[in-house]
Amino acid sequence: MDHTQLQPLIEQAILASTRAYAPYSRFQVGAALRLANGETILGCNVENASYGLTTCAERTALGAAIAGGHREFAAMAIYVATDEFVSPCGACRQVLLELAPDLPIWLVNRARRTMQVTPRQLLPLAFEARHLADLPS
Ligand code: THU
Repeated sequence: MDHTQLQPLIEQAILASTRAYAPYSRFQVGAALRLANGETILGCNVENASYGLTTCAERTALGAAIAGGHREFAAMAIYVATDEFVSPCGACRQVLLELAPDLPIWLVNRARRTMQVTPRQLLPLAFEARHLADLPS
């Protein structure tokens, strides 16, 4: 993904972060998922008074894409207004690996600096669907 395609995706991730429902942590995360067809699906974190029910921005975007009938993904941008890059949590890494193992993920910080990673890089030695079929009968 070149610079001219990445910049609008970053802007969408920033927009998504403003929609976060994060009254407990105040930590607003935005994800913008570019589909293979060029559309963009947004996700933000959605917290709950029962804290463990919180859904991260990354999984919100992936779920919305799947629900919309989309399975082919081109890139994701994740924005948080922090100095450090924020990288997907362990649960999101597992879900990203299942749905898009080689997806270029652009982490974006407050200064709009970027770092690119993939789910495979983020979750080495992962548990995967193929292991389910690997039991001796
Ligand atoms: N969060 C995300 O949405 N994505 C991440 O990559 C890291 C964490 C959310 C979950 C929770 O609402 C808040 O950030 C603080 O953990």
